[in-house]
Amino acid sequence: MIRLDKYLADMGIGTRQEVKKYIRQGRVSVNGKTVKSPDIKIREEEDKVCFDAKEVAYASYEYYMLNKPSGVVSATEDPTEATVIDLIKDKKRKDLFPVGRLDKDTEGLLLITNDGQLAHRLLSPKKHVDKTYYARIRGIVTEEDVEAFKSGVNIGTDEKEEWTRPGLLKILRSEAESEILLTIQEGKYHQVKRMFQAVGKEVVYLRRESMGSLKLDQKLKPGEYRLLTKEELEDVTDENAERY
Ligand code: URA
Repeated sequence: MIRLDKYLADMGIGTRQEVKKYIRQGRVSVNGKTVKSPDIKIREEEDKVCFDAKEVAYASYEYYMLNKPSGVVSATEDPTEATVIDLIKDKKRKDLFPVGRLDKDTEGLLLITNDGQLAHRLLSPKKHVDKTYYARIRGIVTEEDVEAFKSGVNIGTDEKEEWTRPGLLKILRSEAESEILLTIQEGKYHQVKRMFQAVGKEVVYLRRESMGSLKLDQKLKPGEYRLLTKEELEDVTDENAERY
């Protein structure tokens, strides 16, 4: 049970102060009756709360799969740039955030949620969650690169080395512009780009394909999103709770 004003504020109707005012103005009803006190208790699963005669359903947690487009930043707010949260037009919760960051020019799978525990488990280096990226690379990717990535590469500088853990590199096409899949378990800043830099090559396009059991839905075009299915949510939750 939660207070009516918190219920409405959680669902993004306004700030706590604003929703208190709306309630006093008689714009809110519970189970068909106009209510005027902000502190009445609401059973989130049972009571029907309406604001200006429109139902406001309560969602404790929301989970969206976004195919992040290039040109959008992985942040919750930004004074000048469009964020991945701005793309989620149907959101109910106002406390959504992206689970991890993709660079502004990277596309692909991004989980958007307000479930901090799940995010923590997916991002914790101790959990070794696989992240697979598809990339196009300027330069011919070779078996030596596969071996180098298998042992880990230095993505730091000569003065200050920074070694990655092993990564699994699969060459899909090796030409002047190559195509690869790379699976890593870390999420260091610009990691994929810096790994290729370390072997003298440049990433020209990057897309995340999967994170743990969660796979990018091929039907989602860049900028499109959908709710996680019950199965996807169960898998990604179970896998992190038990297998790792
Ligand atoms: N590695 C990168 O270099 N960029 C990303 O956005 C993700 C992984």
